[in-house]
Amino acid sequence: MSLLAAFPEITQANQPLAPLTWMKVGGLAQYIVHPRNFDEAQAVVAHCHENGLPIHVLGSGSNVLIRDEGVSGVVLMLTAPEFSQVSIEGTHVKAGAGVVLSHLITETVKAGLAGLEVLVGIPGTVGGALRGNSGGRSGDIGQCVSRVTVLTSAGERCQRQEDELAFAYRTSSINELLILEAEFKLYADSPDEITKRMRKLWIMKKATQPLASQSAGCVFKNPRGMSAGSLIDQAGLKGTRIGGAEISDRHANFIVTHPGATSVDVLRLVDLARSKINEQFGVQLELEIQVW
Ligand code: EPU
Repeated sequence: MSLLAAFPEITQANQPLAPLTWMKVGGLAQYIVHPRNFDEAQAVVAHCHENGLPIHVLGSGSNVLIRDEGVSGVVLMLTAPEFSQVSIEGTHVKAGAGVVLSHLITETVKAGLAGLEVLVGIPGTVGGALRGNSGGRSGDIGQCVSRVTVLTSAGERCQRQEDELAFAYRTSSINELLILEAEFKLYADSPDEITKRMRKLWIMKKATQPLASQSAGCVFKNPRGMSAGSLIDQAGLKGTRIGGAEISDRHANFIVTHPGATSVDVLRLVDLARSKINEQFGVQLELEIQVW
């Protein structure tokens, strides 16, 4: 049975992905599926597994570049209310994978819980943030995680405890297909104090990053002990434009897209930055964004 026939109420065929991403470029998804609950997500994953359909999981699209050719197979989105719940008990917080980070931060700060405020200004969902261990200079999401519920590509639901999880710079050991929910261990602090810290971080971010433009955040990971932005800046590439894509003149590790930009424009800038930095500094830049 085809995916559309098996899950007609939650499946759309040949849907544009560009509007679902922050870069706003790229082609169509063969299918987009929005499961309404855990059981449905499990059934979709099992169906895809049996029928050899690849699955890509899309959160809020803030760290992904979709190729102009689009994505074959299924793009799975956990946007239903069941995946967007936050519950707080003492210093323990449970959040669905579809919860947007800014919402989780607001809820925890309101409850006088600190730990996640270091993520202020970082876009994305809990699932996406855990996968790539989102963070910045002041900390990352991995440092607060106590348990993660995942779904394997075969459709099996399991839990990963704190001691089975490892997080490092922009990477985590969670390699199962789908993150369903996560638990965090935070610590009590006054909402005013937490807000003060957040405000400081937010001001710094706003002053240095092109937050008002269309981008997917930092494009490259920082090479050990170095800053990708600083290297690209030193290579004189700020403001370089190919088609509708441009290396931000505010922060050189951001590529911003203008109306009419294509994915190829962005990828050509990525190649240009990589080859210049390699030539000039002997450093291989590694992508932070996901390219589908
Ligand atoms: N710099 C330049 N020119 C630029 C950009 C930066 O000279 O165009 C210099 C800055 O002056 C500073 C150094 O490079 O001396 C580092 O820059 P910044 O403080 O902006 O931090 P970053 O290393 O570029 C990292 C994360 C950001 C995160 C900030 C703040 C990476 C790849 N980037 O940026 O994360 O917001 O720290 O915590 O790790 C992201 O991952 O998408 C992201 C934006």
